[in-house]
Amino acid sequence: MRAIIHSAFGAPRDVLAIGDVDRPTPGPAEVLVRVRASAVAKGIWLITQGLPYIARPAYGLRAPKQPVAGLAFAGTVDAVGEAVTDFAVGDDVFGYHAGALAEFVAVPPDALARKPDRVSFEEAAAAPVSGLAALQAVRDSGKVEEGHRVLVIGASGGVGSFAVQIARAYGAEVTGVASTRNLALVRSLGADHAIDYTREDPLAGERRYDVVIDIAGNRRVSRLRRVLAPGGTLVMVGGTGGRWTMGFGRTVRGMLLSPFVRERIVGLISEPNPRDLRALAVLMEAGKLAPAVERTVPFTAAAEAVEEAGSGHASGTIVVRVRE
Ligand SMILES: NC(=O)c1ccc[n+]([C@@H]2O[C@H](COP(=O)([O-])OP(=O)(O)OC[C@H]3O[C@@H](n4cnc5c(N)ncnc54)[C@H](OP(=O)(O)O)[C@@H]3O)[C@@H](O)[C@H]2O)c1
Repeated sequence: MRAIIHSAFGAPRDVLAIGDVDRPTPGPAEVLVRVRASAVAKGIWLITQGLPYIARPAYGLRAPKQPVAGLAFAGTVDAVGEAVTDFAVGDDVFGYHAGALAEFVAVPPDALARKPDRVSFEEAAAAPVSGLAALQAVRDSGKVEEGHRVLVIGASGGVGSFAVQIARAYGAEVTGVASTRNLALVRSLGADHAIDYTREDPLAGERRYDVVIDIAGNRRVSRLRRVLAPGGTLVMVGGTGGRWTMGFGRTVRGMLLSPFVRERIVGLISEPNPRDLRALAVLMEAGKLAPAVERTVPFTAAAEAVEEAGSGHASGTIVVRVRE
C-alpha cells in the first residue's frame, strides 16, 4: 500500500516521501480502516523534525521509531478481528493512530468512533488530535461553564478553531485572538469578539476573563495572569520557544507557580481516549462543532502540507486526501 514514509528527522520535504509498505493485517482485537483523509497539524511537523528535543525518547533518539507519518484519520472499516464487536465492515469512522498517512491503518477499537453523517471524511479527520486537545483544554483543564468569559489565544489554528467552538457550545462568551487575515474565520467559528494581535495587545486594557486558553505565541505567564478574573484559570496548551522545549519550559514554570497564586495555572497534555472521541462526534452530529478545514491536498502533496502546518499561522487544519 502507499504510505508517507518518515525516514529521518529533518525538514518535511527532505524526510517525508511516498513509499510502498505492507498492508497491515489486523490482529484479533483490531480494526483495519481504509483511510480516506488524514489531518496534518503542527504536531506532525514537530514529530517530523524530532522537536522538541526533550520528546526524542518518545519519537526515537536518532531516527523515527514510527516509520509511517500521520496521527489522525477518517475512513471506512475494511476488516475486523474476531474479538471486535463494536465495529463492522463498511462503518465510516474517524480516529487517531500513528501511521495514519497511509492507505490502511490497523487500530484498536478504542482509537475509533463512528463518523457523524453530518461531516465529511476531511472534516472528521481534523478532529481526533486537535479537537481532543481543545475539548480537554476547555472542559477538563479550563472547566468552562455557561456564562464564563473565555479568551482563546491562537484561535484560528488547528486547536484554537476547535476551542472557540467548544467553549461556545459550553455557553461561554468567547474572545478569539488571531492576526488580521484570520479574524473573519475566528468570527465565523462563533467567537463573540475577535482581537487582532498585530494591531492590539490582547492582554492590555480592562477586560478580564474566567479562563484563558493559551495556544500560540510566547507571552509571559505574569502578563497572562493579569487578565484573569479572581480565581480564574490559565490553560497552557502550546506556544513557541527554543528547540529543546518549544515553550514547554514556560508551561512547567507556570504550573510550578500555580499553588502560590490565586489563579489556577494548568498545563495541558492531551490524552486521546474513546470517550472524548465520541463526545466530539456528538457535538459534530448536533451541529455544534464544524471542523475548520483550511484546504484539502492530494496524497502527493503531503510533505509540503506538513511543512506548511509548521508555519504556526494556520487557518484551521490542512487535510490530506489519502483516497480520492
Ligand atoms: N498540550 C497539548 O496536549 C497539545 C496538543 C495539541 C497541540 N499542542 C500545541 O499547541 C500549539 C498550537 O497547535 P495548533 O495545531 O493549533 O497550531 P496552528 O494550527 O499552527 O495554530 C496556531 C494559530 O495561532 C495563531 N498565532 C500565531 N502566533 C500567534 C501569536 N503570537 N498570538 C496569537 N495567535 C498567534 C495563528 O494565527 P495567525 O496566522 O493569525 O497568527 C495560528 O492560527 C502547538 O505548539 C502545538 O504543539 C499542544
